[in-house]
Amino acid sequence: MANKTLELSDLASGKKTELQLKSGTIGPDVVDIAAVNKDLGVFTFDPGFMATASTESKITYIDGDAGVLLYRGYPIEQLAENSTFLEVAYLILYGELPDAAKWEDFQKRVKSHTMVHEGIRRFLSGYHHDAHPMGMLVGTVGGLSTFYHDSLDINDPRHREISAHRLIAKMPTIAAASYKKNIGEPTVYPRNHLSYAANLLNMMFSVPCEDYEVNPVAERALDLLLILHADHEQNASTSTVRLAGSSGANPFACVAAGIASLWGPAHGGANEAVLDMLTEIGEAKNIPKYLDKAKDKDDPFRLMGFGHRVYKNFDPRATIIRQTCYEVLDEFADANDPMFELALRLEEFALKDEYFVERKLYPNVDYYSGIIYKALGIPTTMFTAMFAVARTAGWMAHWMEMMSDPTQRIGRPRQLYTGEMRREYVPIDVRKPAGTA
Ligand code: ACO
Repeated sequence: MANKTLELSDLASGKKTELQLKSGTIGPDVVDIAAVNKDLGVFTFDPGFMATASTESKITYIDGDAGVLLYRGYPIEQLAENSTFLEVAYLILYGELPDAAKWEDFQKRVKSHTMVHEGIRRFLSGYHHDAHPMGMLVGTVGGLSTFYHDSLDINDPRHREISAHRLIAKMPTIAAASYKKNIGEPTVYPRNHLSYAANLLNMMFSVPCEDYEVNPVAERALDLLLILHADHEQNASTSTVRLAGSSGANPFACVAAGIASLWGPAHGGANEAVLDMLTEIGEAKNIPKYLDKAKDKDDPFRLMGFGHRVYKNFDPRATIIRQTCYEVLDEFADANDPMFELALRLEEFALKDEYFVERKLYPNVDYYSGIIYKALGIPTTMFTAMFAVARTAGWMAHWMEMMSDPTQRIGRPRQLYTGEMRREYVPIDVRKPAGTA
């Protein structure tokens, strides 16, 4: 294949440079801008990474216009229908679906790490009773790094793998323990004969004094949500994990950084924000007022669960779980649940509104995930923690991919400086009062 290049010239100085174009297996080419600074003495400027590929990756592919999402080449629709979260975690980590022996081995390995050290349980008990679960997750996952000095050599592939298994195994245990802390119930130990999703539900909802049986509809719905949230290429939290890891930080610290980034309402916090928003809207008659607020540039209100940086047509994950919403509500709540009714009405209004149509703003996965979590009895403050449980598989796959790349370097973006020019220090006794010339 002929080399594809772009020529860039600085008309003022007459300097020129030739930029190589790199092709992936699918998707648009990228321009390698390494020569821009060397040949022209300038940096590129792309706040919010609107047009910048930050890395090369083999894990997940998204075509935002066509609504395509592939994990290691497999369409999300096929994985959602046929696979389980733990199998998807294997696929994301190792690049292939497991054969029977590898599958058996992987399940055994992950399940051997589901318990947390008793010190971690005591650590959790120190949080305030109404601490947000995401705050507890950030702290506790970071704290995990203090327990595994014997397997924290980031340059050892086996150590990296053990850390991935540990994090995938322990996240449900820590997330469920955070919830138990909030409601003042004793933490429930993991049960390894249960599936990944069933174990999480059991740790959240069982109590020592009563029998608890996991409902299979709840188990499947939760597993589906975990599959849909397992990875999403270079989103904010994954990029945070990669950037933290690029300095050589340990994987527990990197995932804690990822959890912090996920917490924001523009990212994983959106599912919680959707329910808060629906509660605030209250009734269908208020929808036009809130749509006006969302369109008003002077009003910070946004329609939560709408819009996506990459999907500009539809979010394939939203299409998959919209149907699951009906199934779960049929089983657990009233399919005429006023909250779901309101969500459907709001969606209908927004999809007809010129502002949303023009800007290609469609419901994203988290418009519906919160409604399912609510029907499953999962409280609003736990929604983003459930997302973090799922995304741990993706974070670790990306961290492992980055760490096994021999060309990997510390991530160090540049900036356009717009601050003060150089000036001289003025002693305090001769400084003029603020606001005077
Ligand atoms: N409500 C109202 N207007 C919106 C919304 C929204 N939810 N989302 C985008 N817009 C508008 C913007 O104001 C902007 O309008 P303009 O062109 O007139 O200035 C235009 O649509 C483009 O929006 P940007 O903010 O530039 O898009 P960006 O790609 O930066 O943001 C994001 C994407 C953060 C997801 C945004 O759509 C948003 O805030 N949505 C609500 C939060 C949400 O649901 N987040 C979950 C994302 S999915 C996930 O993390 C799993």
